[in-house]
Amino acid sequence: MTTLVIGGAGYIGSHVVRLLLKRGEHVIVVDDLSTGFRERTEGAELVELDVTSPDAVDKLAFQLRACGADSVIHFAAHKQVGESVQKPEMYWHDNIGGLANVLAACASAEVRDVVFSSSAAVYGMPDVDLVTEDLQPQPINPYGATKYVGEWMLADAERAHGMRTVALRYFNVAGAGWPDLADTLVMNLVPIILDAVEAGRDPIVFGDDYDTPDGTCIRDYVHVLDLADAHIAALDYLRGEDRPHRVFNVGTGTGSSVLEVIEAVGRALGTELTPTMGERRPGDPARLICSTERIEQTLGWSSSKDLDDIVRSAVEARQGR
Ligand code: UFG
Repeated sequence: MTTLVIGGAGYIGSHVVRLLLKRGEHVIVVDDLSTGFRERTEGAELVELDVTSPDAVDKLAFQLRACGADSVIHFAAHKQVGESVQKPEMYWHDNIGGLANVLAACASAEVRDVVFSSSAAVYGMPDVDLVTEDLQPQPINPYGATKYVGEWMLADAERAHGMRTVALRYFNVAGAGWPDLADTLVMNLVPIILDAVEAGRDPIVFGDDYDTPDGTCIRDYVHVLDLADAHIAALDYLRGEDRPHRVFNVGTGTGSSVLEVIEAVGRALGTELTPTMGERRPGDPARLICSTERIEQTLGWSSSKDLDDIVRSAVEARQGR
């Protein structure tokens, strides 16, 4: 089978590319290398292309036909919540415009199966213990909005062109499957803590007065390799016959507080870290934990790694750098 992976030189994409190659699949990576790295795509053919450029539809359709692609996985997008609030135009243009071009190219080249990176950010501030896919999305920032719009676009493309699509709503992704594929954009909790430790600073907790057992925000941290595996499960699902759902949460079903993550990093480093309590960060829900029921029952996927595995892999990836 041949899969075109758009954004395959980035953090999550490169993990999926490596798993596909390990399965013996033919992989073409399309990436503009704006945040990705050529070295991460070793073993796959790399086509340098910005999917938001004016001639992207023609160029992508050409590539899809030339390699005889059966499926596309689309990662290429901006993913920083704060940045999206500052520069919504960039998110509309690149995240939504990029996906529009990808879907138009797939339609033109008659590619049927598409897997799309969505996000738990579509849910906004849900006030529930476990977030199920049936919950009405209510994004509270442009990033989450572009992902929700993206899911609607997939549904439209299915109706218009007979495509089959899956959107995976990622919860908090962290860790590294291989040391050379670690997250290099330091903007999420685990890499931020590691950065602070390296710089000799205390990690800062954004608020300790939430309605949670230790007062700090709870998130569902999923290992990037588990997440990459979920993409493979989604592809297999699309290639099969029966497909009652098209949107899946990807998480572990277990929540960890900010303090628990800091403790886990301390354990992995063999030292005790002393966090500094800071102000709340606007827009943070107190608790965001994934219901994994749908993905377990429908795709047969479940996570295999816990918080300690995640943090240890992130630490080892840094030490191996
Ligand atoms: N946090 C701190 N200190 C820091 C950094 C983060 O206390 O220095 C806290 C945040 O307030 C939050 C938690 O750690 O409570 C996790 O924060 P991240 O910034 O790592 O992640 P978010 O939960 O804000 O968002 C991430 C992705 C989104 C995605 C979301 C889904 O960045 O794209 O997970 O759950 F939508």
